[in-house]
Amino acid sequence: MPGVAITGLQWGDEGKGKVIDNLAEDAEHVVRYQGGANAGHTILVGDEKYVLHVVPAGVLQKEKSCVIGNGVVVDLEGLCKELSDLEARGVNTDRVYLSDRAHIVFPFHKALDAARETAASDENKIGTTKRGIGPCYADKVARIGIRVSELYKKDLFKKRLRRLVDEKNTLLEKVYGQDPIDFDEVYNSSLELAEKLKDRVRDTGVILQEAVRKDERVLFEGAQGVMLDVDHGTYPYVTSSNASVCGITAGAGVPPRAIGTSIGVIKAYCTRVGDGPFPTELHGEEGEALRKAGNEFGATTGRPRRCGHLDLLQVRYAVNLCGVRGLALTKLDVLSGKEKIKVTIAYKCEDEIITEFPASLDLLKRCTPVYRELAGFTEDITDVKRLEDLPLNARRYIEFIEANAGVPVIFLSTGPKRSQFFRRGHGEQLWDVDHVSQ
Ligand code: IMP
Repeated sequence: MPGVAITGLQWGDEGKGKVIDNLAEDAEHVVRYQGGANAGHTILVGDEKYVLHVVPAGVLQKEKSCVIGNGVVVDLEGLCKELSDLEARGVNTDRVYLSDRAHIVFPFHKALDAARETAASDENKIGTTKRGIGPCYADKVARIGIRVSELYKKDLFKKRLRRLVDEKNTLLEKVYGQDPIDFDEVYNSSLELAEKLKDRVRDTGVILQEAVRKDERVLFEGAQGVMLDVDHGTYPYVTSSNASVCGITAGAGVPPRAIGTSIGVIKAYCTRVGDGPFPTELHGEEGEALRKAGNEFGATTGRPRRCGHLDLLQVRYAVNLCGVRGLALTKLDVLSGKEKIKVTIAYKCEDEIITEFPASLDLLKRCTPVYRELAGFTEDITDVKRLEDLPLNARRYIEFIEANAGVPVIFLSTGPKRSQFFRRGHGEQLWDVDHVSQ
């Protein structure tokens, strides 16, 4: 019973939270393996809306073990607040575990993230969430970061934190002209927060390796999306972790065989927050109308999302990278009322037709999308529970996606509520890897 990976195939905000919430019902473990509080997974349970940043979405289903893996970067204050807010709303968080190897996002990481973005020229701005993600991962790779386990060795922690604070304050003051961070404040508050979290700290790799050995059901919860993956996305306009399936083994501490099935989540159109190329972006009224219809505002920062047509060249690239077996298609309801639906199947650069997503951003910037126009639908589909009950043109849209992505749509989300979701075909046997893989 190997694990199931749920990955965003676009630029994040595909509606992964809702898909994971639905699939978590059948899982025993739900695992975040990369990213940090830059993510915002929105889930509607009845009339209650939850926005989760670091806590895995499985927390909203009963009796799941929810693992924040070693590949996640953790803002201790943010995590404590997220947990206490959930508890205040009656959600049991007893089985939320934090890896002792996860790196810590400190206030100076956030200050540096913001200072760098503010100081960058327009051309160099990434449009980060300013949650300190990039600077924290940079310290991890530079081998000067601090991991959760070190919080519990006070003398060592003090020494290592002193070195970091001194270095970051030099940068903040001398390079960016910002106020320094107070060492004692960071040190004392980190120890207080560590105390609050101590019962949750585990070698989570061991928990998950054992789960894999015992054939327990593990759901890997991706954050962001393939196009924001630091290696495979539109670098440098990306986040600082491997947001594709490539991040799972390193970020959760599991062997490759732990991933039995890869499910990719795509929105019926496309959005992006932050800067960077977006070939099918709609400017002006059409983009504004889509933003309004889809309520496309960032769950973490509230920023308006850039909106555009579905890009199947880009989806195909992500499907192939992640070895996707089936797609979860979200927000199809938002397209209702459109007379025509445009979809990109290739790019054109000068006289050349491009069918593979280019690595060069310079080339990408010069590409124009080659569109196919499909007939739209007007019916309200929010309560549809079977593919056969969708309007003909909605089904044709799905078929077009399947034909161009090369994989079937096995989950459909037709509205924000937990219940506005259905499975079809192999989606019914998600944990039966042989079945889904056929
Ligand atoms: P960072 O992850 O805060 O460093 O931001 C880097 C880029 O990733 C920016 O363009 C952000 O807008 C984008 N980003 C980060 N997290 C998310 C997310 O959860 N959804 C969508 N975009 C994100």
